[in-house]
Amino acid sequence: MAYNPPTSTFHIFFLFSLLLFYSLMKTYGRPETLANHHHHHHIIEVKSLFRATTCSEFPTRGIYTDSFSIDYRLRARNKGSMLPMFDKDGPCSPLSTGDKTEKARNYTHVLIQDQARVQSIHSRISKEGISVEPEAVRLPANSGKVFGTGNYYVTVGIGTPKRDLPLVFDTGSDLTWIQCQPCLGGCYPQTDPKFEPLNSSSYSNITCNSTECIQLESGTGNAPRCRASTCVYSITYGDNSYSQGFFAHETLAISPSDVFPNFQFGCGQSNGGLFKGTAGLLGLGQDKISFVSQTSQKYKKLFSYCISPSSSGFLAFGDSSSVTQFTPLLKDKRGPSFYFLNLEGISVGGQELAISPSTFSLSGTIIDSGTVVTRLAPSAYAALRDAFQQAMKSYPRASEFSLLDTCYDLSGNDTVTVPTIVLHFQGGTDLDVNQYGILLGPRQSQLCLAFIGNSNARDVAIIGNLQQKTVEVVYDVAGGKLGFGPGGCN
Ligand SMILES: *[C@@H]1O[C@H](CO)[C@@H](O)[C@H](O)[C@H]1NC(C)=O
Ligand SMILES: *[C@@H]1O[C@H](CO)[C@@H](O)[C@H](O)[C@H]1NC(C)=O
Ligand SMILES: *[C@@H]1O[C@H](CO)[C@@H](O)[C@H](O)[C@H]1NC(C)=O
Ligand SMILES: *[C@@H]1O[C@H](CO)[C@@H](O)[C@H](O)[C@H]1NC(C)=O
Ligand SMILES: *[C@@H]1O[C@H](CO)[C@@H](O)[C@H](O)[C@H]1NC(C)=O
Repeated sequence: MAYNPPTSTFHIFFLFSLLLFYSLMKTYGRPETLANHHHHHHIIEVKSLFRATTCSEFPTRGIYTDSFSIDYRLRARNKGSMLPMFDKDGPCSPLSTGDKTEKARNYTHVLIQDQARVQSIHSRISKEGISVEPEAVRLPANSGKVFGTGNYYVTVGIGTPKRDLPLVFDTGSDLTWIQCQPCLGGCYPQTDPKFEPLNSSSYSNITCNSTECIQLESGTGNAPRCRASTCVYSITYGDNSYSQGFFAHETLAISPSDVFPNFQFGCGQSNGGLFKGTAGLLGLGQDKISFVSQTSQKYKKLFSYCISPSSSGFLAFGDSSSVTQFTPLLKDKRGPSFYFLNLEGISVGGQELAISPSTFSLSGTIIDSGTVVTRLAPSAYAALRDAFQQAMKSYPRASEFSLLDTCYDLSGNDTVTVPTIVLHFQGGTDLDVNQYGILLGPRQSQLCLAFIGNSNARDVAIIGNLQQKTVEVVYDVAGGKLGFGPGGCN
C-alpha cells in the first residue's frame, strides 16, 4: 500500500529542499556546476593514453614549412592569422627525422625538465614578490635564470627575402630570438639552415645607447652588455637552456598581410638547450619586448592556441574566435610577464571540493604554455587527490612515479572510468580537464593522477599544458581576460 504523506510534511520537505538548494548555490555561487552534475566521469580507453606511435595526419614536411601555403586553418577564419602548431617531440612534428614512428616518451625525463621549469618560475615570482617598491623592481644580479622554454612550435617568416623558420612559443618569456650566423659562441643543430643576417636587407643592429637596449633588462632578467656599440642580450631559462647575441631589428611575417618591420629580436650567437631542431623562440609574455606587445597595433594583444593530443594544433593572433566565457587576467607585481588568473575552486566527479578560498589567494595561479603538469597549492592538491582516490577505489594501486603520487595498475583494464576534474575560475569560467589531462604515466600498469602539489603554500599554482589540451585558450590581454573554448582544435 502506497503511503501518502500529509501535505504539511510534504511542504516542510519541499521547503527544506529549497533551502538546501539555495544554500548550495550561495556557497558555491555556480549554478552551472550544479547543472553539469550529470557529467561525472570520463570513460577512457587505456591504450589511447599512450601517444600515437605514428603520424597519420601530416606525413610530410612540405605542407607546413611554408606557413603561407594554402592551409585550411588559415582559411577557416576570416580575420586574424592562424598558424599550425606542433609538439616538437611528437610524431607529427616536421622536425622528427626519418620515418614517422617514434620511441616511447621518457616520462621520467619529461617530469625532471618540467620540475626545473616550475622551480625557476617559483623562484622568479617569489623574488619579485619580495620587492617592496614595485616601481623600482631590480632583479638580483644572479637571477639570470628566467623560465623554461616549452614544447610547442610554430613557423614564422623572418628577414628580406623571407625565411620560414620554426620557433618554440612560450607564454612564460618575452624575448623572441633566432639562431644567427656566424654563431660566434656556438649554435645547437637545427633542421633549417641558420639565419644569416648579412643576407637580409631588413636586418639592423640595435645600438647600446638606444632606449630599446636600455629597456631590455625587464624582458630578459639580465642587464644588456655592449659590443662595438651593438646591444648584447643574454637570457637563461629555468631548464638551463640559454641564448646570447645581438639585439636587432628585423622584419617578421606571420602571413602575407601580417608583416611587422623593425621587430625587436635577439640574433642568437651562442645558444643551447632543449630547442631540438627549432630555430629559436617566440616570446608571448606581457613585457614590452614580447611579440604580443610589439604587434599590439595589429592584433590588439589578442591570441589563442589549442594544443592537440594527436595532430597539429594552432596558434592564432588577432581573432577572438567563438569563445564567450572569460575570467579576468590579473596584474600581479610578483611577475608582470606572467598571466595570472583567479582559480576559485575544483570539482571532482561533479562535487566541489572543500578548499578554503585563502588557499587559492595565498599561492595565486598562473596559466603557462610551457609547464606540462598542473601544480596546485599543497592543501588544494591533497583535497583533489583524496577525492580522486575515493572515486578510483575499485582499481588496484601502483607505486608512485617520479613526482606523481597517486598511481594505478590498469594493465587488466581496456577502459578506465575516471571522475571529471573541473577547475573553476573567477566569473563562472570553468576548465573541464580533457581526458588526456587526468592520467599520466609510463605504462599501463602505472598510470597516475596528472597533477602535482607544490611543497610550499606560497608557491604559485600553475595551469600546465597537459590540462589545456583540446581546449582553445584565448588570451585577450588588452581586454584583461582569458577564456576557454571546448573542442577548440578543430
Ligand atoms: C629517462 O630519463 C632519465 C632522466 O633523464 C634517465 O636517467 C633514464 O636513463 C632515461 N631512460 C631511458 C630509457 O632513456
Ligand atoms: C646567403 O647568401 C649566399 C649568397 O646568395 C648564399 O650562398 C647562402 O646560402 C645564404 N645563406 C643563408 C644561410 O641563407
Ligand atoms: C648612440 O650612439 C651612436 C654611435 O655609437 C650615435 O651616433 C647616436 O647619436 C647615439 N644616440 C643617442 C640617442 O645617444
Ligand atoms: C651587428 O653587430 C655586430 C657586433 O658589433 C657585428 O659583428 C655585426 O657585423 C653587425 N651586423 C650587421 C649586419 O651590421
Ligand atoms: C580492472 O582490471 C582488474 C584486473 O583485471 C579487475 O580486477 C578490475 O575489476 C577491473 N576494474 C574495473 C572497474 O573494470
